[in-house]
Amino acid sequence: MGDSIVIRSAEPADAERISELMGSSGVFEQLLQMPDVPVASRIETLRVTDAQICRLVALDGDRVVAHAGLHKTQNSIRRQHVRGLGIAIASSHQGQGLGRALMERLLRWADGWGAVLRIELTVNADNERAIALYSRLGFMHEGRHLAYALRNGQYVDAIAMARMHPCPPMLPAW
Ligand SMILES: CC(C)(COP(=O)(O)OP(=O)(O)OC[C@H]1O[C@@H](n2cnc3c(N)ncnc32)[C@H](O)[C@@H]1OP(=O)(O)O)[C@@H](O)C(=O)NCCC(=O)NCCS
Repeated sequence: MGDSIVIRSAEPADAERISELMGSSGVFEQLLQMPDVPVASRIETLRVTDAQICRLVALDGDRVVAHAGLHKTQNSIRRQHVRGLGIAIASSHQGQGLGRALMERLLRWADGWGAVLRIELTVNADNERAIALYSRLGFMHEGRHLAYALRNGQYVDAIAMARMHPCPPMLPAW
């Protein structure tokens, strides 16, 4: 990953540049994004502050070249220990270690600060690079969803993956 890359929290002012990234070719196809999502909906999402989620961007100069985050999957009190993970790197910056750097930063947040026990995600079954990255960072395959999503007129399978906290915090001995 180049020295010029800055990783920081995502802000509402980043909405337009994040939308541009998420809709770009080489990224969009592997996400559950719809084409032409209005920027307004992303501004709304980014305006909501929630200490239980983590949203990051990576900047190369003024350009947002990556977006990654951990979000709550449901409001159920019984799933407060769970976060979903999403990540997208601009095609110009893929394969240079940025995905790994962002994932490691999210995992540090989850393990050290966020009281997260389980992180879950789904990934298109043909997304070899993403599956390799997740596997190296301790995510396990949990199963295969058949015809999980429509992609450019075809149904594609997805792999469910999850990672448990490697060393969950314990109460100290009093
Ligand atoms: C998938 C994605 C997040 C990976 O991030 P990245 O910055 O490109 O990947 P990295 O350079 O950090 O490499 C990650 C690992 O995968 C390995 N890798 C790279 N290309 C690979 C390939 N084609 N097949 C298998 N492994 C590959 C690397 O060797 C690296 O492992 P290492 O750190 O142990 O050496 C990124 O390419 C991306 O955003 N793609 C488009 C959107 C997407 O697929 N999002 C995920 C949806 S679930």
